[in-house]
Amino acid sequence: MRGVTDTDLPELLRVDREVFPEDPYPYFVLRQHIDVHGDRILVLDDGEYLHGYVLFVTTSDGYVCWVLSLAVSADQRGRGLGKRLMLEVLRQLRRERVHEVRLTVEPTNAAAIMLYRTLGFGTDGGVHRDYLGPGEDRIIMVLGLGSA
Ligand SMILES: CC(C)(COP(=O)(O)OP(=O)(O)OC[C@H]1O[C@@H](n2cnc3c(N)ncnc32)[C@H](O)[C@@H]1OP(=O)(O)O)[C@@H](O)C(=O)NCCC(=O)NCCS
Repeated sequence: MRGVTDTDLPELLRVDREVFPEDPYPYFVLRQHIDVHGDRILVLDDGEYLHGYVLFVTTSDGYVCWVLSLAVSADQRGRGLGKRLMLEVLRQLRRERVHEVRLTVEPTNAAAIMLYRTLGFGTDGGVHRDYLGPGEDRIIMVLGLGSA
């Protein structure tokens, strides 16, 4: 696991398209994420290929961090890699005294919901209808970091 670099962009795009085939980030979005907050992207690198990444961005008041994307390649799942990415994110955010972590997840995404629950996330209530656009319902999961 390491921070992203400019030269990771083609691999990052490949992994993102593989994991989210119906709604991958456009090239320009990932390009600009790296430009603006490349220090907020961690990648899983075997020395040749990337196998996953996490993108997390903190609000300008430093209070809340949103995990915008978490992805592990299909052939690498179930080996603890998603959890490792998330634990490193939480470690960094605790060090920075961020108060709360938030993320959205599809109501049917049992694997991700279970992962976030094992890390202590709860929901902020029910399903948010059309949260990410028409038909794109999401649950918002929240973890307080106890740094108040
Ligand atoms: C969600 C995702 C990142 C999990 O990554 P992973 O590396 O397979 O997860 P881990 O091996 O670290 O599993 C950690 C915990 O998650 C839960 N989990 C993972 N896969 C699961 C599954 N298929 N069913 C139920 N729980 C699961 C378990 O609680 C697991 O803990 P355990 O192994 O001690 O039982 C991965 O499945 C993925 O990339 N999915 C597609 C993209 C996606 O849904 N991203 C999240 C969007 S919000």
